[in-house]
Amino acid sequence: MEEYKVARVETGIQGLDEMLGGGIPEKSIILLCGGPGSGKTIMTLQYMMAAVSRGEPVVYVSLEESMEKKTRNATAFGWDLVEAEKKDAIEVLDIYMVPHSKGIVEPIDRRKGKIQFSIENEIETAVKRIGAKHIIIDPVTSILVHESRSGKKRYLIGQLFDTIRNLGCTAVITSEGIPNAGDFYMEQFLADGVFLLKKDLLDYTMIKTIRIDKMRGIDFDDQPRRYVITNKGFQVFNMESVLV
Ligand SMILES: Nc1ncnc2c1ncn2[C@@H]1O[C@H](COP(=O)(O)OP(=O)(O)OP(=O)(O)O)[C@@H](O)[C@H]1O
Ligand SMILES: [Mg+2]
Repeated sequence: MEEYKVARVETGIQGLDEMLGGGIPEKSIILLCGGPGSGKTIMTLQYMMAAVSRGEPVVYVSLEESMEKKTRNATAFGWDLVEAEKKDAIEVLDIYMVPHSKGIVEPIDRRKGKIQFSIENEIETAVKRIGAKHIIIDPVTSILVHESRSGKKRYLIGQLFDTIRNLGCTAVITSEGIPNAGDFYMEQFLADGVFLLKKDLLDYTMIKTIRIDKMRGIDFDDQPRRYVITNKGFQVFNMESVLV
């Protein structure tokens, strides 16, 4: 096996890195799918802070929930996003989408106002400015939700992923919801890796699990594993079977 040659990026999430045999392959695009409150945002922030602690700058594209709120919530975990931004360890694009008539949607930056060209263009400028190695988009659903035509949707995802690949960055992109069995989101095919966060009730007990559904180029633990979110962040119990 040639597998050991693939350079890895640690996610900074205890247990998940072990499931991946060290981390995600460098320059891959990971899609993190999960329902409301499953911990997608917390996981992206934890990934970002792990990168920052290694001296690797990150561009964080925040949609839906404002970055101000995420920054406030992050303090509970001891993550100082304000400080990281001051040091240019991170650059935040805090964006919301305004729908106009005829299905046209306009992205607006909460801090800078109207986006002149495109989100891709903003990402590229930000990555080059701070020399980012990572791009995070949370959630990509906001960019795609207004587009009902599947061809156009695929084009939008393709354009975004091409931008990330051309910049040579590793990316974590969240997607709202888990497809039903047998169904797939288009973005799952285009991503290099797909991680699913699920909540299930088992005898009146809530079981939260993470499963690596796909990860191109490496071998990985394909079993669902339980996870918890504590004041230390996201933690995966990779050594235990789900049914204990
Ligand atoms: N300080 C904290 N300590 C422990 N657990 C927390 C803390 N803050 C949030 N959580 C847990 O994390 C969950 C929310 O996580 P997060 O915001 O990352 O979810 P999400 O998947 O991004 O949700 P959404 O799709 O609504 O954006 C909460 O439901 C709660 O269980
Ligand atoms: Mg979220």
